Amino acid sequence: MKKREIYILGIESSCDETSAAVLLNDQVLSNCIASQQIHKDYGGVVPELASRAHQSNIIPVVEKSLLDANIDKNMLSAVAYTNGPGLLGSLLVGSSFSKSVSLGLDVPLITVNHMHAHLFANFIRRSGLSKPNFPFLGVNISGGHTQLILVEDFFKMKLIGNTLDDAIGEAFDKCGKILGLSYPAGPNIDRLSSKGDSTKFSLPIARVKDFDFSYSGVKTAFQNLVKESKLKDPNFIKNNIYDLCASLQKCLVESVIRKIDSAAKKFSISEIVIGGGVSANSEVRRSLKEISINKKWKVHIPPIEYTTDNAAMIGIVGYYKFLYKKFDKLNVTPSPRFLI
Ligand code: KG4
Ligand code: ZN
Repeated sequence: MKKREIYILGIESSCDETSAAVLLNDQVLSNCIASQQIHKDYGGVVPELASRAHQSNIIPVVEKSLLDANIDKNMLSAVAYTNGPGLLGSLLVGSSFSKSVSLGLDVPLITVNHMHAHLFANFIRRSGLSKPNFPFLGVNISGGHTQLILVEDFFKMKLIGNTLDDAIGEAFDKCGKILGLSYPAGPNIDRLSSKGDSTKFSLPIARVKDFDFSYSGVKTAFQNLVKESKLKDPNFIKNNIYDLCASLQKCLVESVIRKIDSAAKKFSISEIVIGGGVSANSEVRRSLKEISINKKWKVHIPPIEYTTDNAAMIGIVGYYKFLYKKFDKLNVTPSPRFLI
């Protein structure tokens, strides 16, 4: 029997990337992202500017995604979009647009939790690679979240750990700002770390109960280190930039690895699924590879293009929800504070 061809249009607009993707079943045909550069001048995302930029980007991005996928809009089987968590004004743009698509083309409307999507990006078909098996330990490390999740199946999961304050990506970005690096600082810190000595500066890993995280302490310690050292050497940052980045990166990554290790032990899980922007980090990838050999874990990390915010990850959740006929009504509203 011929497999049914399901075309999903995925829409992502939760923060500062406007993205549209087309999937044919679990395979990505196109994934277009318009990154909003306007926030760079402000050192962080300005919500009102983000919503305006989504408004002007969304139509061209969707048109390009259809063009790249080489399909006509009438071939779409459903539209799936991010319904939260995220900035309300930004979410409303993707939500209203998707409802118009659903209504105009008479196709089902599918809401997607952005945090599920970061993990399920690992279910996008990639030749030669197997998909995660349930149950697994989900690890979301992004600019807005740091979460450990026990995932039993596509629609059954339990949050077992969360950050008590900043998210790990936020820690990268805020500490980068102290060093004068532009927003988002995570990728810059990653790049500069490759030339540095990660043992040069010692930074604290917060001791937090069970599987929770905290990053406010390391940020304060980092700020104090830089402030005090600059009193002795005004060029301290410039003279130590590589080592500062490498030491910070090592500490932040180690904080996650330790929690994964204790959760994997406690729940006897060896299948680990990582998602979110910080999973692009080279030290995250290197240390997980190293430790997984030792601990016999099977670790899944998405390819770089599906780590930071993108619509392909929204499309893959849309595809599985389509298979299970989990459709939404047109009066559904965004949930900016969704957890999992
Ligand atoms: O998943 P994402 O695009 O947005 C949220 O859902 O929050 O994650 C963005 C975060 C930013 O904090 C950014 O600095 C961080 O991911 N990031 C990185 C790297 N690439 C992106 N952090 C460390 N190393 C990287 N290579
Ligand atoms: Zn995200």
